[in-house]
Amino acid sequence: MGVIRAVVKGYGHYLPERVVENAEFAETLDTSDEWIRTRTGIERRHFAAEGQKTSDLAVEAAKAALAKAGMKASDLDAIILATATPDQTFPSTATRVQHAIGMKGGFAFDIQAVCAGFIFALANANGMIQSGQAKTVMVIGAETFSRILDWEDRTTCVLFGDGAGAIILQAEEGTGTGADRGVLSTDLNSDGRFNDLLYVDGGVSSTGTTGVVRMQGQEVFKHAVSKLAACGDTALHKAGLTAGDLDWIVPHQANLRIIKRTAQKMGISMDHVVVTVQDHGNTSAASIPLALSVAASRGQIKEGDLLLLEAIGGGLTWGAAVLRW
Ligand code: ACO
Repeated sequence: MGVIRAVVKGYGHYLPERVVENAEFAETLDTSDEWIRTRTGIERRHFAAEGQKTSDLAVEAAKAALAKAGMKASDLDAIILATATPDQTFPSTATRVQHAIGMKGGFAFDIQAVCAGFIFALANANGMIQSGQAKTVMVIGAETFSRILDWEDRTTCVLFGDGAGAIILQAEEGTGTGADRGVLSTDLNSDGRFNDLLYVDGGVSSTGTTGVVRMQGQEVFKHAVSKLAACGDTALHKAGLTAGDLDWIVPHQANLRIIKRTAQKMGISMDHVVVTVQDHGNTSAASIPLALSVAASRGQIKEGDLLLLEAIGGGLTWGAAVLRW
C-alpha cells in the first residue's frame, strides 16, 4: 500500500570562521590537548564571532540547503528549528530565519530538546508531512553554545562548539517498505527525573538570567550509551529493519567514547559511523545535521544509503530516526 514519505531533497551547514584548538584552553585552564583528545575525541571547535547569533548561522545553513535542493524559500511550507540557544526568549529563532531567507508564507517554530532537538524536530516534520499538514519542511539545528559556557569550568567549557545544519524534507509517495527513501521511523523519549544531570543554571522564570551549562558528565555518559543503543534498536524495529541493514550511524557528536561504545553495543563497526566530533565539538542540536551535511558533501553518505540517527541531551531527552537518504 502506498504511503507518504518525508524524503531529503537538500542539505547544508555553516560553521563560524573562528576555530579554537584544544591548546587554547590550556592557556587559561588546568587542562591539556591530550586530556581533551583522549577523554572526548575533540580536537577543535568553531565559536561564533561577537554579535553573530544562532539565526545568523541557521540562515547560512538554510540558504545552502535551498541551493542544494534547487528550491526557493517560497517552496517551503514550514521551518522547524531546534535550538537551546535562541537569539531571544521570544519570538522564535525559526521566524527570524523565515524572514531572513525571504519566506513570506507558511509557518515557522522552534523546538527545545537540547542535544536531541534535531531528532525531535525531524519527527515533528515527518508527522506533519505524513498527515498532510505540510508538503515541504526545512528542519534546522542551530546553536551558539559558546554563549552559555562557564569559561572557568574545565569539565564543561572544552566540550562544546557553535554551528548549524539544515535539511529539506518533501512528501513523496513510497511503497511502505524499508526500501523507500525518506524517514522510515522515529523513536522519541524523555525522563524529567534526570533534569539535574545536565542543565543551565538560569532561565526566564527562575533567575531572570541566561545561566551557564552544568553537567554531571559521568552520569550522563552512563545513560547515554544504554539509552542510545536501546532507542536505536527500537527505531530499527519500528522500520522492520536490523542493524545489519544500516550503511551509516550518524550519532550526536558529544564524545567519541560514547559514539564507539554505542556502536559496539549495537554490533556496528566504526567503519559505518560518521564522526565529526574532532572538528566540531558538541554542537548540541546542530550536531547531527552538521554531520549529515559534511558526510554527504564529501560523498561518504550517498543517495539510497540507510542511516540511523541517534541523540541524547538535557532533560534527559533522547531519540533515534531511521532514514533512507
Ligand atoms: N581537563 C583536565 N582534567 C579534567 C577536565 C579537563 N578539561 N575535565 C575534567 N577533568 C578531571 C576531573 O576533574 C577529574 O579529576 P579528579 O579525578 O581529580 O576528580 C578527572 O578529570 C576525571 O573526570 P571525569 O568526569 O571522571 O572524566 P570522564 O572520563 O567521565 O570524562 C566527560 C568527562 C568528557 C565530560 C564525559 O563524562 C562525558 O563525555 N560525558 C557525557 C557528556 C555528554 O555526552 N553530553 C551529551 C549531552 S550534552 C547536552 O545535552 C547539552
